[in-house]
Amino acid sequence: MKIAFVGDVHGHVRHTLGALVLLQQRRGIRLDAAIQVGDLGAFPSVERMDAPSRRFAEDHPSERDFIRLLDPSPMLSRTVGRALRHVPPILFVSGNHEDFAWLAGLHEAAGAAVVPVDPTGAVRHVACGEVLTIAGQRIAFLGRIEEPGHMDLDPDAYERLLAVEPSTVDILVTHDGPFGICRTWRGDTAGSPKLSRLVEHLRPRLHVSGHYHHENGPRRYGPTRSYALSELVYPKTSRRADRANPEQRVGAGAIGLLDTGDHSFEYLHDPWLAEIHGDDFDLLACL
Ligand SMILES: [Fe+2]
Repeated sequence: MKIAFVGDVHGHVRHTLGALVLLQQRRGIRLDAAIQVGDLGAFPSVERMDAPSRRFAEDHPSERDFIRLLDPSPMLSRTVGRALRHVPPILFVSGNHEDFAWLAGLHEAAGAAVVPVDPTGAVRHVACGEVLTIAGQRIAFLGRIEEPGHMDLDPDAYERLLAVEPSTVDILVTHDGPFGICRTWRGDTAGSPKLSRLVEHLRPRLHVSGHYHHENGPRRYGPTRSYALSELVYPKTSRRADRANPEQRVGAGAIGLLDTGDHSFEYLHDPWLAEIHGDDFDLLACL
């Protein structure tokens, strides 16, 4: 079976669905599941966006696509419905740019660990600390980031996963990465010591994460191969010339493809990814 993993989306939901549709078309495969590693950009309204997300959305109109999906026009609803005839719904864990209280309220109201967040059923949120069987794989989910003084992993969810029997989980999906994954722009060591401990405890075959907005992996931790995914659509301007993305194209390294048969994992670098682009991406055109 095949599972696609998607890096930080930051609202670009139509780009995400387009990338999954083209992945199936161009590779001649069928996806059994699609999992997004957080920073989907799940805010119920522009007013509820955090300050950086609102600022980015001003210059990047398609970062509001997630909000459009919550109250879709008849056209958007039909288009997303058609896409979902081809690709599986997207399961996502929290990043550090979501409306946590809103998402928690959805779980509370439904009394469920996995909840649809939009009327089309395109995206479903997975609560932190859950272990689900998806496409034959036992997959553990832990969102948010460890950043002292700013945010932390959900302590109960973290403890729950530390109580899971080692080597009984095939895949760990997190938003943050293990400690030492890279350096911050200030030169500090980035990554979560708590996640390092969790990876060492669970000993999954595969760990997939996001947050740092660049491809990073495979890194090895005992029996675990760990891959960090890039951001799906880089911003229009960047301090780094190679990252400027004025046409809002889907980039390389933001999607990973797992074949559960031999557990091979590859970063997608296919040139057709760049065909998915624009401030108003026409999802219907690729269906
Ligand atoms: Fe992000």
